[in-house]
Amino acid sequence: MQEKIQSGEIRFNSTMTGIIRRTYLEDMKGLPPSTLWIDLLQTGHNRQAKSEQKKLAGGSVEGLFATPKPERFIREILQIATKEGDLVLDSFAGSGTTGAVAHKMGRRWIMVELGDHCHTHIIPRLQKVIDGADTGGITHAANWQGGGGFRYYKLAPSLLRQDAYGQWVINKEYNAEMLAQALCKLEGFTYAPSDAHYWMHGHSTERDFIYVTTANLNHQQLQQLSNEVGTECSLLVLCTAFRGRGDYPNLTVKKIPKQVLSRCEWGHDDYSLQVENLPKASAKPGQQGLFREEDMK
Ligand SMILES: C[S@@+](CC[C@H](N)C(=O)[O-])C[C@H]1O[C@@H](n2cnc3c(N)ncnc32)[C@H](O)[C@@H]1O
Repeated sequence: MQEKIQSGEIRFNSTMTGIIRRTYLEDMKGLPPSTLWIDLLQTGHNRQAKSEQKKLAGGSVEGLFATPKPERFIREILQIATKEGDLVLDSFAGSGTTGAVAHKMGRRWIMVELGDHCHTHIIPRLQKVIDGADTGGITHAANWQGGGGFRYYKLAPSLLRQDAYGQWVINKEYNAEMLAQALCKLEGFTYAPSDAHYWMHGHSTERDFIYVTTANLNHQQLQQLSNEVGTECSLLVLCTAFRGRGDYPNLTVKKIPKQVLSRCEWGHDDYSLQVENLPKASAKPGQQGLFREEDMK
């Protein structure tokens, strides 16, 4: 006690009736900051969040979440942790409050949701925000007028799986169309199957095409393909196996599991994955924002 009084850690008030203890930050290591948010006007409360939800759902309470967060509460957190233009991730999106608030605050966002409420709640909610038709939550406080847009992706099943012998094979859930679409995406081709040529599944330029098949192609088939493609064009052929004899100058032939695996990225322990920089979708007539559904990514 004497030591602490001497060091100034313990002092007495002017009337010597109370002890004042000085604490030092460096001794507080490991203690989380403790802030009690009790200003309900600033953070909102669950009942308010429920009524926000009800309003968004057009008065119906069916399918509403038991404990939604008020938009004001999420706004407080985003104000502390982010600045305009930052990317906010909510990988358990629920009713989409985080994305709606982030959007109105000028942040970019990614939401992930596996439930059907992705369609019944999140997409309609964000659409309203974009159209400037969501008048609840922080809309007024953020002076939100509408704008912006989002993309929606549905995850496809895994393209490859390992068989009983540990060999990589194409997942049976993939039909021919899904496979062609997926490989066009992986190889950077635009999926655009042609009615005129069975081998024309997509293109990368006007003269460069892609053909995806689960067939095992022999020399005759490859030669015939090469003849049909002609000298002016080139074709990337992705098949499960091939036995070629000749030289096909306009064809590049690759095996699917191997080619897919070569496109996969393994062992990253950070976020340096190569992510496609997709072009902006064009707005639908009469729509301020951008919304595009992409089926398989
Ligand atoms: C409590 S809610 C999230 C609430 C929301 N983040 C908020 O702040 O209001 C949790 C959500 O995560 C979803 N979910 C659970 N597991 C998931 C998964 N593996 N992938 C995507 N969504 C998942 C549930 O369907 C549910 O809607």
